[in-house]
Amino acid sequence: NQGLISIQDITQFRSRAEEFFPLEWYKRMLHDNPVSYHQETDTWNVFRYDDVKQVLSNHEFFSAEGSRTTISVGASNSEGTIPEKISITTMDPPRHQKYRSLMSSAFTPRSLKSWEPRIAQVAGRLVDEMEANTAVDIVQSLAGPLPAMVMADLLGVPGDESHLFKGWVDVLFQPYGKEDGQELDIKKQEAAKAYFQYLYPIVVQKRSNPEEDIISDLLEVELEGERFTDDEVVKTTMLLLGAGIETTSHMLSSTFYSLLHDDKSLYEQLRHELELVPKAVEEMLRYRFHVSKRHRTVKQDNDLLGVPLKKGDVVIVWMSAANMDESMFERPFELDIHRPNNKKHLSFGTGAHFCLGAPLARLEMNIALTAFLQRFSRIEPAEPFDLEANLAASAPGQSLTHLPMRVIE
Ligand code: HEM
Repeated sequence: NQGLISIQDITQFRSRAEEFFPLEWYKRMLHDNPVSYHQETDTWNVFRYDDVKQVLSNHEFFSAEGSRTTISVGASNSEGTIPEKISITTMDPPRHQKYRSLMSSAFTPRSLKSWEPRIAQVAGRLVDEMEANTAVDIVQSLAGPLPAMVMADLLGVPGDESHLFKGWVDVLFQPYGKEDGQELDIKKQEAAKAYFQYLYPIVVQKRSNPEEDIISDLLEVELEGERFTDDEVVKTTMLLLGAGIETTSHMLSSTFYSLLHDDKSLYEQLRHELELVPKAVEEMLRYRFHVSKRHRTVKQDNDLLGVPLKKGDVVIVWMSAANMDESMFERPFELDIHRPNNKKHLSFGTGAHFCLGAPLARLEMNIALTAFLQRFSRIEPAEPFDLEANLAASAPGQSLTHLPMRVIE
């Protein structure tokens, strides 16, 4: 992919662990280079809270369209290509508004309410399956499978086949490393084909027999004469899976890592005050979610960021760095679930493209964490743990592949 921008060229991180928790780099960039031009990738990089917010929300000057990108989505064959009409992430208002509304018909507060018991059931099952007083790999047993299982359930496909989903999604959204571009392309095409062939008949069937699920909602919606075809519904689910699975898995596993290593008293505190869980989730999104970055293309010349930006320039905004900006958050490099403004983090973006799945992601994280807290009185790291050896590149960034911990009932 010629338009793909290599983030690694910009950060030059020396290890996976540094990328997993790049606070020193953020600190340096926020202080020394808050708006800086990077020659090799020909990009502007933006770190401060107000600047990041400006770029994400000012669509008159910063467009979500453009040929260069920091993320690769889907595959290059017809089964894996997300049609332009569905790619709301790369669309500008006013068009964006219309197509986002079509998609958000499946994400109403009413559906959210009805999803709660379904998510609780999936999370409860995974937590119940853990064997107390042993070392459990929380990534493999909860954080990894939960989002795929939940999405499979909400889409209305058989839950026992959600591992297939996760397999396809992992391949479809696997980042391009420098070494195996062509091989990966072939793998992505195969995954897209298998996914499409699996889901298409399910969609066709739901067209005549709608049920209480996202696919049926997407089939029913109509806006200004516009509706989704069967093919487009399959591609929409692909987009939702790509946006929603690895991000949520990453967040859940990072949260457990934080509970084990950042503040050892927090688990006990949450267990005694479960109503603090939503605050903890927000602070984890601010403090432990280090993969939020997006790009925009300059639409018209401007100096809104204090530098001369020219039409066509690519701007990368580092939301996770903005979450560490002390002009917004007091003592930003400390984990503090009680900060009054912890919902102000930019991990879900802001403006017209604000994450469509944010309420679902929040719900999943709150339910999963609560179910876990209710079952286990204590958690402890299972020694020894080599962080570097247990990280791998995922679509959002460096994510944990394993996190063994002792769970005490
Ligand atoms: C957009 C983050 C979970 C669906 C976004 C954006 C961010 C984000 C930063 C904005 C992109 C931009 O401004 O260009 C996250 C994080 C998640 C998460 C951190 C979990 C912790 C989900 C889930 C779903 C989802 C569970 C759905 C199942 C979407 C969609 C968009 C989006 C459809 C595009 C919205 C638009 O362009 O109008 N997400 N996301 N996300 N997200 Fe999420």
